Amino acid sequence: MPSGILRLLTCGSVDDGKSTLIGRLLFETGSIAEDQLAALECDSTDAPDYALLLDGLQAEREQGITIDVAYRHFATPRRRFIVADTPGHIQYTRNMATGASTSDLALLLVDVRKGILTQTLRHAHIASLFGIRDIVFAVNKMDIVRYAEGNFREITDAFKRITEPLAFSNIHCVPVSALEGENLASPSERMKWYSGPPVLTILEGAEPRAADADKPFRMPVQSINRSGADFRGYSGTIVAGSVRPGQEIVISPSERKCRIDRIVTSDGDLPLARAGDAVTLTLSDQIDAGRGDVLADLESPPEISDQLRATLLWLDEDALLPGRAYEIKVGTRTTGASISDLRYAINVDTMEHVAARTLEANDIGVCNISLDRLVSFDPYEGSQETGSFILIDRYNKRTVAAGTIAFGLRRATNIVPQALDIDKSARARLKNQKPCVLWFTGLSGSGKSTIANRLESTLHNLGRHTQLLDGDNVRHGLNKDLGFTDADRVENIRRIAEVSKLFVEAGLVVLVSFISPFRSERDMARSLLDNDEFIEIFVDTPLELCEARDPKGLYKKARAGEIFNFTGLDSPYEAPLEPEIRIRTADTTPDEATDILVEHLRKQGVI
Ligand code: ADX
Repeated sequence: MPSGILRLLTCGSVDDGKSTLIGRLLFETGSIAEDQLAALECDSTDAPDYALLLDGLQAEREQGITIDVAYRHFATPRRRFIVADTPGHIQYTRNMATGASTSDLALLLVDVRKGILTQTLRHAHIASLFGIRDIVFAVNKMDIVRYAEGNFREITDAFKRITEPLAFSNIHCVPVSALEGENLASPSERMKWYSGPPVLTILEGAEPRAADADKPFRMPVQSINRSGADFRGYSGTIVAGSVRPGQEIVISPSERKCRIDRIVTSDGDLPLARAGDAVTLTLSDQIDAGRGDVLADLESPPEISDQLRATLLWLDEDALLPGRAYEIKVGTRTTGASISDLRYAINVDTMEHVAARTLEANDIGVCNISLDRLVSFDPYEGSQETGSFILIDRYNKRTVAAGTIAFGLRRATNIVPQALDIDKSARARLKNQKPCVLWFTGLSGSGKSTIANRLESTLHNLGRHTQLLDGDNVRHGLNKDLGFTDADRVENIRRIAEVSKLFVEAGLVVLVSFISPFRSERDMARSLLDNDEFIEIFVDTPLELCEARDPKGLYKKARAGEIFNFTGLDSPYEAPLEPEIRIRTADTTPDEATDILVEHLRKQGVI
């Protein structure tokens, strides 16, 4: 008989009777009285509401409020239970993910009349992704079909077949009526054709996940505590294993060894601390660890990499853009990261892997992630805390995805930057100039190329070595595989940013003329270069004026519905907030614009 508390997650599609079932379990086990049942039942589950989801996350960010999973407790004489409930309208996929990562078992409901829905399978998938191995698949509302066996077998056989690729070890299928309490606490008298145990008996016998305390020691450092002249402690929550004073540990990812000196708490020193404890550890050696480092078991340290293979559950209403710079939070470490390769998305209806260029809200996909620095992690299987992460939008700070790490990719460790004898400044010296990037951004028809072209002629006549990269031209060569979706534009600019960097390395003055509609990618281009090397020039022309000029006749075509995703019409343009130079072409001629730019370059010492 397994013991300990069992944590369970209830999930299923809208109106499948989740709240009724929870209420009934609480009632049957004497945890609530009958008159409290009704209150729980009206707390019905709405469809995931993305507006609310986003509001919730926004509230979290701005006010430090955590809209989270509600936990309800009940007990039988044999065991105590905690149900992760996502009440009413806040039933978001994100909560489902949070609930799944801390639950031992999922109780998944379907309505016998509706059978398996996409939402059912999505929830099964999320449960599997976040480590649940035991499923009670409850076919509910049997009272409505007069307790006839009917298509119970068909539904449960289909569920087992479809979810075969998932990592479930046990799937218990039970016909129930949450409303009437059939097959919950005791075997149903009305469904004699079902010979298996009722739900509570299954729950009483289920195995909890391996306890975190039995795993190798991990404590991600949350903060450094310097409360005394020579006191230096590392504070955080132990997420796995246990630790004692005198124990040798390793600081990851620097891999320096040291010894635990004291375990300090507000109630005095401890001889032992284990998973779940928030403590301050002091080290006996003068070794520096920083926030985000992981103090870990010496014999089984975490893995270290800056390239990860991971499964993502996309949460944001803005789709994933491979190549875009996001922030990743693994443990207590936050660093820059981008999806370097979206390998496939999962069609949750069939479990098939399908080629995908993006993921939208609620989509699940497998990808490679490239991080700006090394992180310590464990593969998710069995290590929820150090094997999971969230992705965050750099600008609005929204949590855009939750993920689990499958493994680290070794590739990065085998590519060592080659030291070159001739560097950027040597090349620039030979040309007698200061290399930089003049990045022109603005709507189609705003005048970017005209101004860039004139400026290049002027610079050339002044004896400068230049290179002009123009969107329309580069899209015929290097970027001819790209179109005008958001994802393609991100990739377009990513490549051009890298190419400009190479040209700067070559000692050139680089003129870049691309719409480059997203702030995020322009900032990424800036971040590849040194401080004064990137000059952002906003060619600020109102849409009406661009459309009136319409040099290539494209606005006309876009208005006629012949071109889609046209910038300024049905595709966004994010104007620069603080460009180095803004040129309002409505009252500046191309020659005047060129003069302004030449003047700026003189001041900057470029020419
Ligand atoms: S970017 O958005 O990815 O930076 P880029 O500057 O390379 O765009 O290419 C823009 C040029 O492609 C425009 O000047 C226009 O000539 C052409 N074009 C064709 N279709 C579109 C479209 N849907 N949106 C914008 N430009 C388009």
